[in-house]
Amino acid sequence: MTAPWRATVLTLFPEMFPGPLGVSLAGKALACGLWALEARDIRASATDKHRSVDDTPAGGGPGMVLRADVLAAAIDAADDSSLPRLLMSPRGRPLTQSRVRELAGGPGALLICGRFEGVDQRVIEARQLEEVSIGDYVLSGGEIAALALIDACVRLLPGVMGKAESGAEESFSESLLEYPQYTRPQTFEGRPIPEILLSGDHAKVAAWRRAEAERLTRDRRPDLWAKRLDQRKNTTDG
Ligand code: ADE
Repeated sequence: MTAPWRATVLTLFPEMFPGPLGVSLAGKALACGLWALEARDIRASATDKHRSVDDTPAGGGPGMVLRADVLAAAIDAADDSSLPRLLMSPRGRPLTQSRVRELAGGPGALLICGRFEGVDQRVIEARQLEEVSIGDYVLSGGEIAALALIDACVRLLPGVMGKAESGAEESFSESLLEYPQYTRPQTFEGRPIPEILLSGDHAKVAAWRRAEAERLTRDRRPDLWAKRLDQRKNTTDG
């Protein structure tokens, strides 16, 4: 059998893992050995007697910066040289479903969780870290971002996701938001299920869902809508 997809996480808070990844779809897959997780404490690589991992920023300013020597030692000790090395950071390149698909198709990922005001730039360069952001907002550390990235990858691993959960992925790969869903009761607080969904006419249902997905995407995500128009143009050109 081939080795399972693996996430190695470097963090100052290893007790945050597996956290929410220990339950539901990802948790079951973890228990079954479909993927593997190792959370390593960056502090274990500190060398001074206070076990310090951070220091004041050169040039002054607020907060503390994660030391290059300590983090480099933690990366080297993890010895996962075959894995892409990702640094979770709000200034990283935004994570996309296509990058998630690439990562899920590889051997796994080494995820480094920043804390404090940041990480010494020299370790980012010396260990060739790929900075990844999960959105334009600031978390108090990279751990929750790492959990989000791992979750997005794990659900794509073979055997993890049932057919039912795969719909959202398919829709996103077309740069479309998901159409609205309904189930029983037929009327909820005076609101009926759209009649067409009860018609039994599969072609009409499919056309309605597509129109709704397009309307939602146009209204809420003009950026995705533009990307979709672009994709379509490129597939019909040449
Ligand atoms: N660390 C803090 N904020 C973050 C974000 N938005 N994405 C990734 N890592 C982070």
